[in-house]
Amino acid sequence: MSDLDDRTQAGARRWARQALTRLRSEAAAEQPVPLRRYPLPERWRVSLFFRDESRRPTGSLKHHLVRRLMEDAVARGDIRQGTTVIEATAGNTAIATAYFAQMIGVPFIAVVPGKTSPAKRERIERYGGRCHTFDPPAAIYEEAARLAAELDGHYLDHLVCAVHAEDWRGPDSVGAAMLAQVMAQEGCPPAWAVVGAGTGSTSAALGRHIRYHGYPTNLVVVDPENSAYWPSWVTDYTGYGTGMPSRIEGIGRPRVEPAFLPSVIDLAMPVPDAASIAAMRYLSMATGWSIGPSTGSNFWGALRIAHRMREDSEIGSIATLICDGADAYRGTYYDDNWIRAKHLDPGPYTETIDRFLTDGQWTEPS
Ligand SMILES: Cc1ncc(COP(=O)(O)O)c(C=O)c1O
Repeated sequence: MSDLDDRTQAGARRWARQALTRLRSEAAAEQPVPLRRYPLPERWRVSLFFRDESRRPTGSLKHHLVRRLMEDAVARGDIRQGTTVIEATAGNTAIATAYFAQMIGVPFIAVVPGKTSPAKRERIERYGGRCHTFDPPAAIYEEAARLAAELDGHYLDHLVCAVHAEDWRGPDSVGAAMLAQVMAQEGCPPAWAVVGAGTGSTSAALGRHIRYHGYPTNLVVVDPENSAYWPSWVTDYTGYGTGMPSRIEGIGRPRVEPAFLPSVIDLAMPVPDAASIAAMRYLSMATGWSIGPSTGSNFWGALRIAHRMREDSEIGSIATLICDGADAYRGTYYDDNWIRAKHLDPGPYTETIDRFLTDGQWTEPS
């Protein structure tokens, strides 16, 4: 190896070390993520807890996963000084990637569909990210890969790489941290844990963590309309594809993503989109919490589990997540005109929730 190569290698290692130190310091400096209790009727002897991931610096549960992906890519040498990082999404993952790319001083391009709202673009650009629009929306992944090859950049590819990024044994993953908080509060693991699946990595890490540590917790994955996860879990066929995008942001996919692990899921539960919206609005009104639609899906799932626990005279707790806050959704899921235009009617589902929390009866709209 020549002197020049040696210096270049040493420079690359120094840069990687500094970048990893910054990522680690960010994690160490993070404020604790709060655990919130939703007050179910006391006589039920069922507690419901939400770990509030909206309090992460970039406002969602993706903050943790993206930090892990960035650490992995820097440690492997896939992201070096000046490498352009590329991701194909306009959602929470893109915001977190923009934040961490800015932190370690590399450029970031989010490949987003043409119809992406200015508000979403602004959230990425706030952290110095650039939006590259491409249509049709289903082709943004190929475009991201093409762009990465053209720029000699790094396509983060969270849908594929999430499967390796998460440390499921330890206490750090979102689900493991949620269980630990509930155990600290209640003195025992939750009877049930309820999460959604986007990449599927939250549920896969949590399910493995539960089995590895021998917890008695049952894992439920709530799944919106048009998603492949519930049908694939029911049929045990991972090649399942719906060809339709989910309408609940962050969760549900038209195909089964590589991180999704059906074998660790005790129950997959389909949730009508109007039910997710009804539950989101109900929870937000009842508590004043700022929450997005996938948290509505979690609340709906948790209430159905609470009903099942009552039917079975089971006592204990249910743990779930606030995945992100309401701000990004004021002009959509919180807007009556938008909901009507999508032909969604949350009214009957709101009645279901209201009746359940009043007299314990669960009657779903037909
Ligand atoms: C708001 C929201 N909820 C839930 C999820 C699901 O998490 P996972 O990708 O780990 O399956 C995501 C993922 O993007 C999300 O953004």
